[in-house]
Amino acid sequence: MSEGLLVSAYLLAAMKFVMSLAGLSRQESARNGSFYGMLGMTVAIVATIAHASIAGMNWVTMLMILGSGIGLYLAKKVEMTEMPQLVAILNGFGGLAAVLIGFSSAIEVITGTGLATAVMSTAEVMIHDAQIGFGVMVGTVTFSGSIIACLKLHGRITSSPVSLPGGHWTNLAIIGGAVLMAIVFVQQQNMMALLLMTAFAFVFGITLVMGIGGADMPVVVSMLNAYSGIAAAATGFMLGNNLLIITGAMVGSSGAILSYLMCAAMNRSFISVILGGFGTEGGTIVATEDQGEHTESSAEDVADMLKNASSVIITPGYGMAVAQAQHPLQELVNKLREKNVKVRFGIHPVAGRLPGHMNVLLAEAKVPYDIVEEMDELNDDFTDTDVVLVIGANDTVNPAAMNDPNSPIAGMPVLKVWESGQVVIFKRSMATGYAGVQNPLFFKENSSMLFGDAKKSVLDILNFV
Ligand code: TAP
Repeated sequence: MSEGLLVSAYLLAAMKFVMSLAGLSRQESARNGSFYGMLGMTVAIVATIAHASIAGMNWVTMLMILGSGIGLYLAKKVEMTEMPQLVAILNGFGGLAAVLIGFSSAIEVITGTGLATAVMSTAEVMIHDAQIGFGVMVGTVTFSGSIIACLKLHGRITSSPVSLPGGHWTNLAIIGGAVLMAIVFVQQQNMMALLLMTAFAFVFGITLVMGIGGADMPVVVSMLNAYSGIAAAATGFMLGNNLLIITGAMVGSSGAILSYLMCAAMNRSFISVILGGFGTEGGTIVATEDQGEHTESSAEDVADMLKNASSVIITPGYGMAVAQAQHPLQELVNKLREKNVKVRFGIHPVAGRLPGHMNVLLAEAKVPYDIVEEMDELNDDFTDTDVVLVIGANDTVNPAAMNDPNSPIAGMPVLKVWESGQVVIFKRSMATGYAGVQNPLFFKENSSMLFGDAKKSVLDILNFV
């Protein structure tokens, strides 16, 4: 393929990526957005392969088929509740790709086998080495951080913040070591320095994400997404590939914007989160603290409450995703609306385990978009609401975030469900939410617990409505 055709193909792919991001920003156009993204990526891969004279094309083809097969299998097999882990690990693979390309470039530079570096001036080689060092460092942090994020989201390791002795100073020393080794690598083209830098960055990625508490995990995942974009852009500079630079910059900036928006929505300092939990020392986990007595309800009681209500708000959380309760919920909503009850859904920005997690599930169950409202839109309406159904939500409706300055989730805005007439909490036990914090809502006078799997509870209520 000629250079001109390659540039045109890359331009077309870049346009498709922009269209993809635009499409993904709205629920109604998200499907088209995904399609444009796939189209752009196909154009990019075909053009790159057709242009480059790749040694070992058979290997490349074989590995691409193998990789696509694994990707297809995982995407088909993954449960909706496991999506966050998949996203986290995919970010990690982006980082790993940057690391592997960086090492391959470094070997070419050091052994003098690279075509490009053979014609570079000394200054250009140093810039190239700096790009390698930067790409490998960010890629490694992304990779190891994503593994920890994936394990935390999968519940394999604790979601509570864990820090090394010395806390942030130890983290600072580790990243300082990585930067020092990167400088040595650029100055001396020393492979051992690059390896040591990678080791430091690997440990830093682990300590960075281990230090972040459960409630801040959404920001971490989007931050790792941003890092994987930055690593890809650095790889683009390394390889002199404009499309990779554009794509990496788009992923990096959109991930950074999402992280910033989430921090704003959760009243967190962006800097404190990206530095691995700076400023979160005040929190203490109070999971087992005795909060008093709770009241239990039955499906029949809840059906009666709903039949007598004129306005109802449903606030779903991660438990709705686990139980897959959205379909019977939609049925319940239809029945109540037929009885002229005003029903709305209140969505917390970090409910579930993915940005937009609840919106996707409700859209899948064909809940009309116009009754699904964001937290800010209806948080002042609870005082005029008769009944709130909290379906598998916990941290996002925890009043401790507003009332207890010592709580690990202190300062995070929450849905003020307790201000309504009656609150029914659908969950299986008195267990804490993802942040590991007990919820005083469960013990309030106007609250009652409906224990059991949320889907079964909603189906039971449907028998009485
Ligand atoms: P959580 O605080 O995670 O609580 C979910 C509740 O659902 C649990 O208390 C659990 O109690 C209940 N549950 C689980 N399975 C259930 C089932 N089958 N039936 C009924 N209930 C069930 O949920 P949330 O309020 O949505 O908060 C989300 C948390 O995750 C926040 O801390 C957030 O920061 C964090 N997070 C969010 C994201 C994004 S981007 N959304 C990403 C990572 C982390 P039982 O076990 O007693 O049933």
